[in-house]
Parts: sequence; structure tokens; C-alpha cells
Amino acid sequence: MKRRLVVVALVLLSVVELVHGDGWRWAPGSRPHSVTITEFGAVGDGKTLNTLPFQNAVFYARSFTDKGGAQLYVPKGRWLTGSFNLTSHLTLFLEEEAVIIGTKDPSQWPIVEPLPSYGQGLDLPGPRHRSLINGYNLSDVVITGNNGVIDGQGSVWWDWLHSHELNHSRPHIVEFLHSEEVVISNLTFLNSPAWSIHPVYCSNVKVHNVTIKTSLDAPLTDGIVPDSCSNVCIEDSSISVGHDAISLKSGWDNYGISFGRPTSDIHISRVDLQASSGAALAIGSEMSGGISDIHVDHIRIGSSSKGISFRTTPGRGGYIAEVVVADVVMDSVHLAIEFTGNWSSHPDDHFDPSFLPVIDKITLKNMEGTNISVAGVLSGIEGDPFSAICLSNLNFSIADSAPSSAWTCSNVHGYSELVLPKPCSELHDTSTNSSICFSLSSYSALAVL
Ligand SMILES: *[C@@H]1O[C@H](CO)[C@@H](O)[C@H](O)[C@H]1NC(C)=O
Ligand SMILES: *[C@@H]1O[C@H](CO)[C@@H](O)[C@H](O)[C@H]1NC(C)=O
Ligand SMILES: *[C@@H]1O[C@H](CO)[C@@H](O)[C@H](O)[C@H]1NC(C)=O
Ligand SMILES: *[C@@H]1O[C@H](CO)[C@@H](O)[C@H](O)[C@H]1NC(C)=O
Ligand SMILES: *[C@@H]1O[C@H](CO)[C@@H](O)[C@H](O)[C@H]1NC(C)=O
Ligand SMILES: *[C@@H]1O[C@H](CO)[C@@H](O)[C@H](O)[C@H]1NC(C)=O
Ligand SMILES: *[C@@H]1O[C@H](CO)[C@@H](O)[C@H](O)[C@H]1NC(C)=O
Ligand SMILES: *[C@@H]1O[C@H](CO)[C@@H](O)[C@H](O)[C@H]1NC(C)=O
Ligand SMILES: *[C@@H]1O[C@H](CO)[C@@H](O)[C@H](O)[C@H]1NC(C)=O
Repeated sequence: MKRRLVVVALVLLSVVELVHGDGWRWAPGSRPHSVTITEFGAVGDGKTLNTLPFQNAVFYARSFTDKGGAQLYVPKGRWLTGSFNLTSHLTLFLEEEAVIIGTKDPSQWPIVEPLPSYGQGLDLPGPRHRSLINGYNLSDVVITGNNGVIDGQGSVWWDWLHSHELNHSRPHIVEFLHSEEVVISNLTFLNSPAWSIHPVYCSNVKVHNVTIKTSLDAPLTDGIVPDSCSNVCIEDSSISVGHDAISLKSGWDNYGISFGRPTSDIHISRVDLQASSGAALAIGSEMSGGISDIHVDHIRIGSSSKGISFRTTPGRGGYIAEVVVADVVMDSVHLAIEFTGNWSSHPDDHFDPSFLPVIDKITLKNMEGTNISVAGVLSGIEGDPFSAICLSNLNFSIADSAPSSAWTCSNVHGYSELVLPKPCSELHDTSTNSSICFSLSSYSALAVL
């Protein structure tokens, strides 16, 4: 009994550190029990379907939940599987040269209800395929390894999407719902059917030292998508995908507004991003639950369609506020900075266009860009301008086109200093000054609240 109290106290302490520490000192403890996937009849030949061994191994690991949890060890080999669930206090560990492969058989990816904050799947109305690796209502789960690989074999799904043969929306590689204390680290994720890592309605999530890749022409493949989550940390990772590399969301239109769960307190640091047809960092367009307290720094962006993109549209409601993006190096990016209030997609016709989003207190500072085609397009909503946009110390070298067309602005208010090429007049409005620039110190003060 006493021991259990001590454990509880330690866990609480770790959570406190996780929330208030400047780094994330909380590291997942090693588990007192370990099982190997081969003990459940799995065969790592790349051909045998191992869905049942994975499900049975997790079911067995569940018996250690109140005994400190268990590790599920996946040795070197090619482990073909369909969708399976994780459990609390579990570490899924992939050894070097262990590859978990998602089967191309869609019947091994069960159909589940759409998320309540979306009201439909990603690609189609109605239900969607469950992801390859799922967590629901869990706490203290680690997916890690000695650089093992999880390969979603997404190309079949991309083809079905292209040829309109999908019956239900595509699955992701990893999805956690309503979970907390989740760590994903030291792994490579390849070829997700849709998104690679999707935490939804979660808190205390850490993604560290992962590599994520899809082929660059893979349609609408995003890397990491924190969605209606709080306290998420993404660090030391490299992401190269077809659409958005990191995307922050919180539901959309009437569904997201009534669900009302924001994305807040997100830290992103030291990541290399490439987004061939989307944005390296996208905020929205699904932001109806609100997105705030976002701190991004030390980002490298290469060969991307867009660098940093804020997206919304009338009918979304919600807000994007209190965002600082600092210390960014970009090369070969078509559009470095985008703010758009006309991202026209909607889940259905039941949205109310009078629910206008608020975009406020966004600071972008210390950025250098080479071979940029357009520095910025900032277009707010007529009658609902985006406010307190601060651009500070940005230097974009514009390729080919005339620097005078480098910036286009409408329905935005803000302030700029030390920006090259010279930005549009909306951003050096004489009625504003540097006091609107949202600073890290005000960020930290808010983060503690
Ligand atoms: C996986 O979890 C879901 C609940 O999120 C449940 O409906 C489903 O039956 C579980 N599948 C297995 C194989 O345990
Ligand atoms: C979620 O997990 C907690 C225990 O961790 C349990 O009490 C609760 O019933 C679970 N809720 C659902 C919907 O499974
Ligand atoms: C990142 O993960 C790899 C294995 O995937 C490991 O060799 C390396 O040491 C890790 N780096 C850090 C900083 O954790
Ligand atoms: C869609 O459903 C049809 C009819 O049941 C089936 O033949 C086809 O294989 C399904 N396609 C996918 C991608 O699941
Ligand atoms: C990732 O790998 C590094 C180096 O091997 C190790 O120090 C770190 O603890 C690992 N992270 C996790 C969560 O296992
Ligand atoms: C500049 O960027 C464009 C894409 O925007 C790319 O095609 C071209 O190769 C880049 N040039 C150099 C010199 O990197
Ligand atoms: C929004 O975009 C659509 C096309 O994507 C265009 O038809 C419409 O005029 C735009 N609305 C505004 C207010 O710019
Ligand atoms: C802006 O960047 C260009 C090219 O990288 C560099 O030559 C120039 O000195 C920079 N200007 C400032 C003011 O930093
Ligand atoms: C900046 O603007 C604010 C509000 O408009 C004003 O209170 C403040 O005195 C100004 N500061 C400077 C240095 O001009």
C-alpha cells in the first residue's frame, strides 16, 4: 500500500515536471515485465498476417497494468499486421531492423465512427477506417525503439483516393484518442495511408527523435497532427511528406464548435520539415475548438510549397491566438508565410457563416529564407480582420519575381520591423507599435495559467 502511494507520488511529480519543466525531463520508465511478439505466434517473414498475435500480446500485457506495466518487444523481422489497439502502461519497442507493416487488405482496418469534432471522415462523409495502431482512453503509453520502422504501405490507399474507389476515409498509422502521457520516440514512420501520428483529445504527448516520410506525391499525407490536444511537445524530428508536415487542428464548423475542445500549450522545436504540396507548419484550417499558446522555434524548412500557414474561413468560429514562431531557416519555398481567411472546405452545409473566427496575437520572428518565390500572402476576412500580427527580423531572398510583389495583404492589422523585402502598408500601420509583438515572456506567463 505504502509502495503504491510512493509510486503515485512519483508519477504526480513527473507530471508536474512535464508541465512546468523547461525541458521534458520525464522519461518513460523501463517496464518490470516484457513479452516478445513471437511468444504469441507472430512470424516476421513479411507475408504472414500477425493481427491476432499483436491483439493477443496487448491483451496479455493488460494483465500487468497494475503491476508497473509491460514492454511488448518486436525483434528484427518484417511483421505484417492489420489494425490493433494498445493498452495503458505499455511500451511497444521495435528493435533495430524490426519493421511493422500495415497490410494492404482494407478488411483488416475496421470501420469506426467519425470523430465527434469533425462529424465525418477525412476524405468522405460517414465512418472511417481505424488506424494501424490505436489508443483509446489510455495513460502512460510509449511507442519507441532502436530506430525500428512502421510502414503503412499507403500507396494502395493513395491510389484508391485518386481513383475514387475508397468506401471509407483513409486510416492513419498511429491514433490516440482521450489519452494522456503518451511518448513516441526513436522510430521511423513510412508511407502512412493518411496522417502518420494523430493524437486527438489527448494531453501530455511527447514526440521525440522520429523520422516521418511519405512519397512526396502522396495525396493529403500529413506528418504529425495534434488535434484538440493540450501540452504536446514535438522535438528533434525530421518530417517529409506530401501535404502538411506538422498541422495543428481542433475540429471544424458546427461539430468543432459544439465539441469545444481547444489545442493549447504546444511546443515544437528543432525539427526539419518538407511539405511538397502543403505547408511545413499549418495551423487550421480546422480550428473551431480554438488553438492557442503555441511556441515553435528552431525550424528548418526545405523544398516546400508553403512555409508557415494560418488557415480559417467564415463558419469556423474558434480562434488562433498567442502564437510565436521564431528562428526559422527556409530554402526553396514557394510561399513563405500565408494567412488565409478563405479556406473553403466544410464538413457539410450545416455551418453558420456568421460564426467568424478570431485570429489574434501572432508573432513571427527571426526568419531567413533563400530562394523564396513569394514572401507573404496575408488575407483576412472582410469585416473580421486578423489582428496583432507582428513580423520581426525576417529576411527573405526572393527568386526571380520583383520584390515589390513579395507581399500581398488584405483585412489584416499588425506591425513589422526589420523585414526584407519591405512588407505591405497594413503591417506598418502608424497606429501600432512593437507592443503588439507577442513575446516569449508573455507566452510563459500564460503557459503557467
Ligand atoms: C479496440 O478498441 C476499440 C475501442 O476503442 C474497440 O471497439 C475494439 O473492439 C478494440 N479492438 C480489439 C481487437 O480489442
Ligand atoms: C477510461 O479509463 C478509466 C480508467 O483509466 C475508466 O474508469 C473509464 O471507465 C474508461 N472510460 C471509457 C469510456 O472506457
Ligand atoms: C534517436 O533514435 C536513434 C534510434 O532510432 C538513436 O540511435 C539515437 O541515439 C536517438 N537520438 C536521441 C537524441 O535520442
Ligand atoms: C469498396 O467496396 C466494394 C464493394 O463492397 C469492394 O469491392 C471494394 O474492394 C471496396 N474497396 C475498398 C478500397 O475497400
Ligand atoms: C531514445 O534513444 C536514446 C539513445 O539511445 C535514449 O537515450 C532515449 O532514452 C530513447 N528514448 C526513449 C523514449 O526510449
Ligand atoms: C528554387 O526553388 C524552386 C522551387 O520553388 C526549385 O525548383 C529550384 O530548384 C530552387 N533553386 C535552387 C537554386 O535551389
Ligand atoms: C474564396 O475563394 C473562392 C474560391 O476558392 C472564391 O470563389 C471566392 O471569391 C473567395 N472569397 C473571397 C471573399 O475572397
Ligand atoms: C538577407 O539575406 C541575404 C541573403 O541571404 C544577405 O545577403 C543579406 O545580408 C541579409 N540582410 C540582412 C539585413 O540580414
Ligand atoms: C505603443 O502603443 C500602445 C497602445 O497603442 C501605447 O500605449 C504605447 O505608449 C505605445 N508605445 C510606444 C513606445 O510608442
